[in-house]
Amino acid sequence: MRKDFGSLGAVYPMPVLIVAAYDENGVPCAMNAAWGMICGMHEIALFIDEDHKTTQNIFASKAFTVSLADKDHIVPADYVGIATGNKVPDKFAKSGLTAVKSNFVNAPVIPEFPVCMECELLEVINTEHVYAIIGRIVNTSADEKVIGENGKIEIDKLNALIFDQFQAGYYVTGEKAGQAWRDGRQLMD
Ligand SMILES: Cc1cc2nc3c(=O)[nH]c(=O)nc-3n(C[C@H](O)[C@H](O)[C@H](O)COP(=O)(O)O)c2cc1C
Repeated sequence: MRKDFGSLGAVYPMPVLIVAAYDENGVPCAMNAAWGMICGMHEIALFIDEDHKTTQNIFASKAFTVSLADKDHIVPADYVGIATGNKVPDKFAKSGLTAVKSNFVNAPVIPEFPVCMECELLEVINTEHVYAIIGRIVNTSADEKVIGENGKIEIDKLNALIFDQFQAGYYVTGEKAGQAWRDGRQLMD
């Protein structure tokens, strides 16, 4: 037996991205975004509402950062997703997170989060069914605590949060199950 759910966007895992940008006075704001994905080797697409304070900041500064939220910072990560800078002017300060200006773009890196993509605003896609902010990833930085001996970011060290679209839970990335572009090779002959 299978149950029909009607039209349900059943994608899992969804990321927990923290998008941050400065306003015209250099005041940072951040928001939680699960609807976002890299859409090119150097581009990222964020499906974020136009009226969010963070979105307005992106328009003002033409730049933003996208951090991967981790388990140790689940409270501020969720907070920035339920409070809005349109009503709480000191939202970023209240979150307890820190804003450090990126060396690459005019946007705040949040050192509490282990990985951060520093982006320039490339374009806004506004069609009948899609509203998306597209950024060029100028630099990605990571805390050394999540970098393995081979110099790459290690998922095991990240404790990155995953958003559960079905029941609004936060999960943590789990065990490695296989290797992409390799495990299917046994069926190729
Ligand atoms: C788990 C989670 C995921 C979210 N994902 C998105 C998203 O993908 N796009 C969006 O526009 N808002 C999303 N939100 C809502 C914004 O984070 C929220 O409206 C926030 O208050 C906006 O803040 P701001 O107005 O200060 O920028 C999400 C919230 C949570 C808690």
